Amino acid sequence: MNSINLVFLLTILSFASAVKVNYDGYKLYKISPKDDSEVQVLAKLQEARIGEFWEDGFRVDRDSKVMISPQKHERFIEFLRTENIEASLLLDDVQRTIDKQRNPENINASSSYLSYDWTAYHDLDTLYNWLDELEANHPNVVKTVVMGQSVEGRDIKGIVINYHNDNAESDSHPLIGMLEGTLHSREWISVATVTWIIKEFLTSEDPEIRHLAETFEWHIFPVVNPDGYVYTFTDNRMWRKNRSPENIKTCAEGVDDDMSHGVDLNRNFEVEWMVIGASNDSCTNTYAGPIPFSEPESRAIAQYVRRLDQIGTMIYYIAFHSYTQLILVPYSHVYIENAWQSRNYADMYEIAIKSADAIAKRYGTQYRVGLSANVMYPMSGGSFDWVKYDVNVPISYLIELRDLGEYGFLLPADQIIPTALETMDGLIEMDKNTKALNYRVEEVYAMILKEIIFLVVLVAAVNAEYVSYKDHKVYKIVPKNENEVQILLDLRKQPQYYFWNDIVSLYSDVKIMVAPKNQEEFENYFKSVNIPAEVVFNDVQKLIDDQVKRPVSRNVVYDWTYYLTLDEINAWLSRIVEEHSDVATLVNLGTSVEGRTIWGVKIDYKKEENPVIGMIEGGIHSREWISPATVTYIINEFLTSTDENVRFMAENIVWHIFPVVNPDGYYYTFNNNRMWRKNRGKDNFTPCATVADDISNGIDLNRNFGFVWMLTGASQNPCDETYAGPIEFSEPESQAIAGYVLNIKNQGRMIYYFAFHSYSQMVLVPYSHLSGYDVIQAPNYADMYEIAIRGMDKLKAKHNTDYQVGTSGDILYEVSGSSFDWVKGVAEIPIVYLFELRDVGEFGFLLPAERIIPNNEEIMAGLLEMERVTRNMGYYNIQNESEPDIIPTTVEPSTSTTAAPGSGMKTVFSVFLIALCLFVTL
Ligand SMILES: *[C@@H]1O[C@H](CO)[C@@H](O)[C@H](O)[C@H]1NC(C)=O
Ligand SMILES: *[C@@H]1O[C@H](CO)[C@@H](O)[C@H](O)[C@H]1NC(C)=O
Ligand SMILES: *[C@@H]1O[C@H](CO)[C@@H](O)[C@H](O)[C@H]1NC(C)=O
Repeated sequence: MNSINLVFLLTILSFASAVKVNYDGYKLYKISPKDDSEVQVLAKLQEARIGEFWEDGFRVDRDSKVMISPQKHERFIEFLRTENIEASLLLDDVQRTIDKQRNPENINASSSYLSYDWTAYHDLDTLYNWLDELEANHPNVVKTVVMGQSVEGRDIKGIVINYHNDNAESDSHPLIGMLEGTLHSREWISVATVTWIIKEFLTSEDPEIRHLAETFEWHIFPVVNPDGYVYTFTDNRMWRKNRSPENIKTCAEGVDDDMSHGVDLNRNFEVEWMVIGASNDSCTNTYAGPIPFSEPESRAIAQYVRRLDQIGTMIYYIAFHSYTQLILVPYSHVYIENAWQSRNYADMYEIAIKSADAIAKRYGTQYRVGLSANVMYPMSGGSFDWVKYDVNVPISYLIELRDLGEYGFLLPADQIIPTALETMDGLIEMDKNTKALNYRVEEVYAMILKEIIFLVVLVAAVNAEYVSYKDHKVYKIVPKNENEVQILLDLRKQPQYYFWNDIVSLYSDVKIMVAPKNQEEFENYFKSVNIPAEVVFNDVQKLIDDQVKRPVSRNVVYDWTYYLTLDEINAWLSRIVEEHSDVATLVNLGTSVEGRTIWGVKIDYKKEENPVIGMIEGGIHSREWISPATVTYIINEFLTSTDENVRFMAENIVWHIFPVVNPDGYYYTFNNNRMWRKNRGKDNFTPCATVADDISNGIDLNRNFGFVWMLTGASQNPCDETYAGPIEFSEPESQAIAGYVLNIKNQGRMIYYFAFHSYSQMVLVPYSHLSGYDVIQAPNYADMYEIAIRGMDKLKAKHNTDYQVGTSGDILYEVSGSSFDWVKGVAEIPIVYLFELRDVGEFGFLLPAERIIPNNEEIMAGLLEMERVTRNMGYYNIQNESEPDIIPTTVEPSTSTTAAPGSGMKTVFSVFLIALCLFVTL
């Protein structure tokens, strides 16, 4: 088994086995090594995996806590005896302490603000709800903001507090403070403290708190690791890392494999990455990830910080962790002799010392201050170090909150408010001293215009709001002569007119969508040139709303009467795979730009050596919703149909099927812009001349493949819908598809690759940049053409729908860099098509949901025929048991210029030669 499959298999295993961890009867012990030999004993204990340590390193005179399961308790006591080392019992039953965190006894005073309180710890939904409430209750001051998405696709949500929103001028370049909470998910006191600070900033009447709240624009994210945080509630209270499944493996004896299901985000930043205090083993708690910034959460923080640094003057970055009561000063990988490297260590240290004194005043809680290497242990790749390193924020701290280890992560809820109060004392003192040391430059208002561009970046990338097409009209125009064609082609250059069609040709409908503010001008123009423009839709948003309608009752079975969201598709996939686990497995193509997993299904009934293989790709252009709806239907048919022809096609070929290969884009079409086509790669962001700048946040994946890339029908302008990317294969999605094809190609005889798009009712045959006589440059073009023609006859027989067949260059327009052309030209797969599904433009991308099923039925009929014809042409030999002895003779093998199929090697070789010629000639 190759390694990729192994990883997939393991991924699935660990999904299946992630059961809620219960800490009933677990005991927590403290051991304080008194000399180096006892430190060695602790290392030995860790190696023996008798218990789970709560800390990452050991040193003389520092307490280490180790949690022991009931099963291993005897071994532990035995170990203590043979090694002659002392341990003291801290908690008798860890689970009981966990339970108390959420349901504390003896709540003293209830303290709450809106729906949130600080007498217990709360889950992510409660937190996010409260953030929304804050925005609703403080509309002029609070704005919720999403800095990005987690590995599992959750929003990383926070708020911006700005008391000067109404005064645009004075606030054009604000002083900024950022608070980061809960990078490590089990450190619940972090969320509790950060939310308290938010509450105080919004409601306190203490003049010092008011000053702090109102002097800065605060960007506050109570939970930057939402997946991990949710996981600490649902599965494992002791979870620290994110939930990246990318590095899952079998862990050593005694360590649950689930341990490898995540990356330590506070080791993943690109500052002295993996240099010290971090691990390259995904089975550890300090696993730094495969590369710096491999994780969407750390990338999101970094990008957000860089933008803040552009729109204002960042003064503070404070990361809240627990426990051990420390204020850490950057950098964590250096010892005191190199402390100067962080540029203003002495000032940061002095400010922190005074804060620690202020913290101690209220309850006597002692905080220590210094470099991590000196007061804790050296480490690298942490967020606050990176922020100091990259944007040189004056004051960057990591604060380890209460306690010193009595309860550790399981700090009782009745300590939340005391912790929060003393922390606030520390922050106020911090700000006094920062000001005294002249870090808060007040004359920052005279800022330059160019900053506004970055403000736009921030708004466009961070705050992309739902685009409504309310009252957008669609006009239909039919050009009746070449002059009218030219008028339309000229008009298309004006971006305020959104052409639904890619082609403009004589006597064919052209649909143009126009926003309300441009309608009058548009209509007047067509009157002036005397071309009729008929309104075919009055309100595009209404069509969109109709498309997203779904059944009212929950838990309905998916029946292709509505369009599924990304989450629904993924949930459906895992459900159907579970129901057919003997033949279907969930497979993972790779990860999108925004960190979403691209899920698919492998269907293998016979588990034979050297099988015939086919692959199906859906949703590469995200607005083409009928594509995932078709592809999921095919999966369902292959797994459940009782039709003997469907069964034949399903069971004799190993299928790899991916309904949504552009998940970020698909998500975006539901949540932001229904008309989004590209992926969501933001690296080429640029202000656009006449279209919304957001258009440049993406690459057309179907122009990004490395086969005659950028030859024709593609753009180098990020503001275009057909932007091909800065280089070929710049995008993770296209890389993932290509890598996957090359991989499965080695597992048997890969015959088929189908890509589903919409709309225009066509079967496109490779290569898309060729037309006329040149089309036969594609190996076995004639066979592919014939197979498609015959398939479309059967398709039409179903509901009388007409499909055209040909190269894109012949029947649509010339393009290059698309996935299916690459599969043909580079991966050399014999039977490759791109389907443009329904309709021919009446509704276009907004195909009503009632038409999903007829569309799917006819496609299935077409595919069955195409498979039959391909088989009969001799591309592979599978006996149809209903006609035992007939050798396929119905169709003469290919008459095209290329080798006859069936002679496998010869075909492959000539495909290769021709591909080679193409490379040489282009
Ligand atoms: C409970 O509240 C009272 C009065 O506010 C206070 O004196 C006491 O210390 C509190 N007890 C705890 C456990 O916080
Ligand atoms: C991980 O680190 C260890 C020890 O430094 C090293 O021997 C090993 O080769 C590394 N493994 C990988 C996969 O880099
Ligand atoms: C197998 O042969 C039977 C009898 O000729 C035919 O009806 C059926 O469609 C064939 N199945 C396939 C998948 O070609």
